[in-house]
Amino acid sequence: MTPTITIEPYEKHVLLCCGKYCDENRETMIYLKKRLQEEGLDGRIRANRAGCLGVCAEGAIMVVHPEGTWYCNVDQAAVDRIIASHFKAGAVVEDLRFHQHQP
Ligand code: FES
Repeated sequence: MTPTITIEPYEKHVLLCCGKYCDENRETMIYLKKRLQEEGLDGRIRANRAGCLGVCAEGAIMVVHPEGTWYCNVDQAAVDRIIASHFKAGAVVEDLRFHQHQP
């Protein structure tokens, strides 16, 4: 069966863990969505909550695709830094990154 649904093109897909050791109350997720909208990035950057990503220390954990950049300790202040540096200027926030996927 051929799919009939479509989505708009996007540049990045952000997954933010909302598991019980990360952003269980989703306050950071709500803040991330608000900030992406304020910066006019919500059409270019898709952000979705994720279940446990299997790295429960130093949460909240965020993964940014297609780069495969993994961030830890993501709180609201970190969201602001990631948006300004990574999403807007293309520079990974090194002190929050703990893994970089190498395809
Ligand atoms: S609960 Fe977030 S990585 Fe496990």
